[in-house]
Amino acid sequence: MFDRDEQKKTPYLKAYAKYLKEHTTVFDVPGHHQGHIKTDFDKIFTHIVYQNDVNCPRGMDNIAHPTGVIKEAQDLFAKACGADYCKFLINGSTSGNLIMFLSALQANDKVILPRNCHKSVINGLILSGAVPIFIMPEIDKRTEIVNQISFDEWKKAIDENPDAKAIFIINPTYFGATCDLKRIVEYAHLHDKIVLVDEAHGSHFYFSNLMPSSAMEAGADMSTLSIHKTGGSLTQSSVLLVKGDRVPKYYVNKSFNLLTTTSPSSILIASLDAARKYLVFNGEEKIKEAVELAKLAKEQIDKIPGFIAHSKDYFVNECGSFSYDETKLCVEIDKLKITGFELYKLLKDKYRIQIELAETYVFLLLFTIGSTKEDVDVIVNALKDISSKYYDESIVYENHHYMSGFPEMKIRPRNAYHGPLKVCKLKDAIGKISKEMIMIYPPGIPVIIPGEVFTKEVIQEINYYLKKKATILSDWDGANEVSVVDEDED
Ligand SMILES: Cc1ncc(COP(=O)(O)O)c(C=O)c1O
Repeated sequence: MFDRDEQKKTPYLKAYAKYLKEHTTVFDVPGHHQGHIKTDFDKIFTHIVYQNDVNCPRGMDNIAHPTGVIKEAQDLFAKACGADYCKFLINGSTSGNLIMFLSALQANDKVILPRNCHKSVINGLILSGAVPIFIMPEIDKRTEIVNQISFDEWKKAIDENPDAKAIFIINPTYFGATCDLKRIVEYAHLHDKIVLVDEAHGSHFYFSNLMPSSAMEAGADMSTLSIHKTGGSLTQSSVLLVKGDRVPKYYVNKSFNLLTTTSPSSILIASLDAARKYLVFNGEEKIKEAVELAKLAKEQIDKIPGFIAHSKDYFVNECGSFSYDETKLCVEIDKLKITGFELYKLLKDKYRIQIELAETYVFLLLFTIGSTKEDVDVIVNALKDISSKYYDESIVYENHHYMSGFPEMKIRPRNAYHGPLKVCKLKDAIGKISKEMIMIYPPGIPVIIPGEVFTKEVIQEINYYLKKKATILSDWDGANEVSVVDEDED
């Protein structure tokens, strides 16, 4: 347990406030020189943002080699989370995933990971040169949500790949499902594997007993947390946590500096320092409130025709999750004349409600340390109105369609990335090696990644989703054309 008195300190914020109070005459960057210019930016934000925007002046430490207030603030964060040390990230968990891959894995090292990973993870494979061994998670047929990976599936993958150097776990998933983290970490360590955790959506797990186990508590080696997502800091600000020395600090620092700007935003760093103190002293109570609000919303939404709200019971009993983050509420659309995508737009355009995410048959509401009872009333009233206009009991949904696995990998993602480029029509891509990742939402599983070979099934799958007008992330608009490795070129 950490020293609570020490957690009252905010060393970076304090140094920042001192610097601003001193009204220093500046000859350094940023070039707006604390707002000595007037732009349209002021019309929205007032001048205060410029005035407070500074970049590593004397007394505010250096993120590349912190020895002063950044180090102190990082150490306090690490202690609050039970880590040995912490690095502040100003490019989100996107950079956290890249740093984990680059510091733990070298070219040709094998890593076991779920197929539904964030695109930064595929980029981590490209940068590190590692070889992926994917586990294909099951997809819930009703909602199209990707399920968690069970302990038995992890055990099987570890047993079948004794030469893998690391495993990479997503905990929780975007929708809040969690796995038996402690048991998986123990088994992986017993077999000499490094454990990396993408905890982008689980920052708040560290600050409430109501939440599932955190990565550091479970004994993982490294974890990345998007504090900006659920921990109350500003957008982009995240942290990397490290425990033990399975991943040498030398490589963590080297990868961090390879991927981090030398001009970090002081506002972002300060927001991490402030969020940590807030979470330590208010997290327990605020997260409890968020869970209660999510429960209240579930109770009320379940009474509205056209919507079924799912929480822990559904994820644990129907989807095989180990546990669930009850600050999240996943709402199934049942017999509405509109899809989740249409509902997402309608909520914003007509009711001025911004939800976290929507897919064809489901949408996700986040209840956080910033949620209020009024928010629940607003969404419930909007859904009642939508139900009265779009509910139709006679609707029967078509059967969902999924690819059963993933294509063969012919070369490593890094080699495909660096291979010569040829752009060809999707229909002509059979047998060619992909240079790109094509990801479809839902379910958010890449259909193909760099190094894998296009098959008839992959093309059918993409065409199916093109017709459905699903969201497709790819190099070329709409994926009618694709990037492949030009194998004719030397
Ligand atoms: C599972 C997962 N990992 C990592 C990230 C990247 O996090 P960030 O937005 O902090 O860069 C996301 C983003 O949504 C994500 O969903």
